[in-house]
Amino acid sequence: MGPTEGAPSVAGEREMVANSKYSGRVFIKAILGRPDEGVGLIGQKVTVGGWVKTGRVMGKTTSAFLEVNDGSCVANLQVLVDANVAAEKQLTLTGTSVLVEGELVKPPEGKNQKVELLVENILHVGTVNAAKYPIAKGKLSLESLRSQLHLRARTNTISCVARIRHALAVATHTFFDKNGFMWVHTPIITTSDCEGAGEMFQVTTLFSEAERRDKEYAAHPPPSEADVDAAKADVLEKGDIVKKMKEEKKSKKEIEPSVQALMKAKELAAQLEAQASLKPGLPRKEGGEVDYAADFFARQAFLTVSGQLQVETFACALSNVYTFGPTFRAENSHTTRHLAEFWMIEPEIAFADLEDDMNCAEDYVRFMCQWLLDHCLDDMMFLSKMYDKSAVDRLRMVASTPFKRITYTEAVEELEKVTSKKFENKVEWGIDLASEHERYLTEEIYKKPVIVYNYPKDIKAFYMRLNDDGKTVAAMDVLVPKVGELVGGSQREERLDVLERRLTEMNLPMEPYEWYLDLRRHGTVKHAGFGLGFERMILFATGLENIRDVIPFPRYPGKAEL
Ligand code: 4AD
Ligand code: MG
Repeated sequence: MGPTEGAPSVAGEREMVANSKYSGRVFIKAILGRPDEGVGLIGQKVTVGGWVKTGRVMGKTTSAFLEVNDGSCVANLQVLVDANVAAEKQLTLTGTSVLVEGELVKPPEGKNQKVELLVENILHVGTVNAAKYPIAKGKLSLESLRSQLHLRARTNTISCVARIRHALAVATHTFFDKNGFMWVHTPIITTSDCEGAGEMFQVTTLFSEAERRDKEYAAHPPPSEADVDAAKADVLEKGDIVKKMKEEKKSKKEIEPSVQALMKAKELAAQLEAQASLKPGLPRKEGGEVDYAADFFARQAFLTVSGQLQVETFACALSNVYTFGPTFRAENSHTTRHLAEFWMIEPEIAFADLEDDMNCAEDYVRFMCQWLLDHCLDDMMFLSKMYDKSAVDRLRMVASTPFKRITYTEAVEELEKVTSKKFENKVEWGIDLASEHERYLTEEIYKKPVIVYNYPKDIKAFYMRLNDDGKTVAAMDVLVPKVGELVGGSQREERLDVLERRLTEMNLPMEPYEWYLDLRRHGTVKHAGFGLGFERMILFATGLENIRDVIPFPRYPGKAEL
């Protein structure tokens, strides 16, 4: 995946490598990503641009030997620059950008690459201040790279992850498009809490407004009550004068100055009165609660935790839909699996039940694994070598193995049997499975992805369909090795009376969900959907350990940089 290369053109018998369409140079992938690794291009003149990964000065004739990467693939192009071409230029420092023109040549025997570039002309050099370049040193830990978010995309790992992330996004749209789903853009700012868990970030302009009010208050302290009363008395007095002059039938010209004085006094009184009513801080109602009617949306609003409720409105009209966008959770989780801002893919299928839902989730996850094997093998091989030897095999296994499906009750029974390991959280029917339980099921017991379904209603959201047993809901979670929960979904409660009862049981207010209940009042239909955490999928695929390294700009408690 990555940048699209222009189609190669044929000059005479020879296939010419094409420039990328918009930057007048050849992507390195168009050379090294060919099945012949560039051999067929030997002798061709090309322009290549990129950033120096490593560089050294060699011998008398060659001034510099560079490994250049342009992000189009994991491989670097070896670039040789003659002393007479380079003149005084400093090219070898890591991070230097170069745009060079030259001929693709066969390297001397014994080198790994099948082709290298002999530079004839240097078109651009962006030098590096080596003493200050924060990522010049050999191998930096992923953790220390998190404090260099603006530069870490230049590392092999982060650029591999970026290509895989892009590929998974393309795979997602391909899968859903192929299966008749329409992409719906659900709102980022919302007034309903989908999960009912109260983990929402509030969207408000009241605080900046309050700061403005504080400043104004400090600059113009309110007048005293006596000042306001005096101004009001002055208005009355000046009014009396005008009244009296009118009674005495004075001419307009004679009255005019007194009228002007009255107007002025009125203005001053109004001004003082307004100033006196000015309050610092947040606008508040009589009882002291914050007055959200004065807020931007004239009510409380939040960043969405899920686009599900809104996407259901489209499912109940367009049948198969999905939303793919950022979601936000203000949970104070410091784990390697949680972010405060993450992306979620949420399909919603009309006329579908829990089994259809599980089938869709399984097909989608397996499709993405196969897609990476087909489109990103080089990147996967690199990450596998560096971080997790089993990453590629895991993708192959998931792409080719049907998932295990068990009920929650069965899962608890299986976990209760475990004697070889002591869980931190005690297992008993009714608990919300913890990450350690989820991983044990998928990694140790079944050694493949597991779908757990029919969870106790008390640990799941209000919208999940109540099963006939009255105790469980038609929910399902897909658990995968390395990560634990990758997908959470359910059949939705389509019965109005049951849904109303569930809202009441869970102490949720009815009013914000009236529109959602309307979908059940009018033309209700069986339907189901799920949410897949995009970063969890990337974590699972790449084998990296921390979710903060698979999103370009991670946000978590205490951190929101750039
Ligand atoms: O299980 P969750 O909370 O389900 C929902 O939000 C439903 N409304 C989805 C639906 O039915 N349309 O979240 C879905 C997935 C989880 O399985 C997990 O992969 C991911 O979103 N997720 C997170 N990923 C990163 N950081 C977090 N804080 C996450 N919380 C959930
Ligand atoms: Mg969940």
